[in-house]
Amino acid sequence: MSPLHLAVMPDEVLRLLEPRPGQTIVDCTVGAGGHARLLAERIMPGGRLIGLDQDPAMLELARLRVPGLPVTLLHRNFEDLPSVLQELQIGPVDAVLADLGFCSDQLADPGRGLSFQQDGPLDMRLDPTRGEPASSLVRRLHERDLADLFHEYGEERHSRRIARKIVAARQEAAITTTGQLADLVRSCVPRSRGHPIDPATRVFQALRIAVNDELGALERFLVVLPECVRPGGRAAVISFHSLEDRLVKRAFRRPEIWQELTRKPLTASADEAEWNPRARSAKLRAAVNRPQITDGGAEHDS
Ligand SMILES: C[S@@+](CC[C@H](N)C(=O)[O-])C[C@H]1O[C@@H](n2cnc3c(N)ncnc32)[C@H](O)[C@@H]1O
Repeated sequence: MSPLHLAVMPDEVLRLLEPRPGQTIVDCTVGAGGHARLLAERIMPGGRLIGLDQDPAMLELARLRVPGLPVTLLHRNFEDLPSVLQELQIGPVDAVLADLGFCSDQLADPGRGLSFQQDGPLDMRLDPTRGEPASSLVRRLHERDLADLFHEYGEERHSRRIARKIVAARQEAAITTTGQLADLVRSCVPRSRGHPIDPATRVFQALRIAVNDELGALERFLVVLPECVRPGGRAAVISFHSLEDRLVKRAFRRPEIWQELTRKPLTASADEAEWNPRARSAKLRAAVNRPQITDGGAEHDS
């Protein structure tokens, strides 16, 4: 089976991470293996790419993309990067990539419950081996907490109205499918004229972020990232909405730790956005881990 997902901004990622023979690189979100393959091809001979994903199904797909390449694939959350490096007995690496969110392959599988365009169980977990499915959140959260969640993670203007409707509906019957939830949201949010976006978009985004604790994992990852990249090594993060990009921007804008390579985030070219619509909302930021400052103020490379 060939993956659906197309790697976003591949040329820009290669230019910013500068993979070279012999290097060790971690792709923290290996997904369908697109970036991983490009990076792994460039670190031969002698290099090693470690690919992490919290979704075992994506690791299987990625495996098909990297035959014969020096790639180690592991089912892990990227917030565990320090312990992954410790277990593999490798120190800080030359480069780290995180391409956040989900893959087209996960979205296209109705069984994962990520899409409001297909009916399936209201699950949304990217790691199906742990955590609480979206149906359970929708069942147990108080009306006010649901509204806050839609407002905060989905920037949904009609959050209170939607939460009220959910609470009324769940008293009649449990909301267990993506179709039920999408119809319910559509029934109480007007489709704005001249705006083709489905009214369910923001609620689905908000629930996915909450179910997978996406912002929490990203925050914890950004805290441990400097210790995982060697001085002079590089990190790049691709984000897909402003809540993520804000965290990445804040983390990289710490000159005592990082030297930014992208003062403004890079975005996909018009060409790429044309053939890969997912790339339209992508923002790529990268930085070099600053060589440590010695007492005398000189930078060294140890
Ligand atoms: C946008 S896709 C990556 C696509 C990949 N760069 C490629 O070229 O095919 C994001 C992937 O990251 C995974 N993911 C999201 N959050 C994660 C986390 N906290 N830890 C590990 N994997 C994560 C998702 O399961 C998904 O497979």
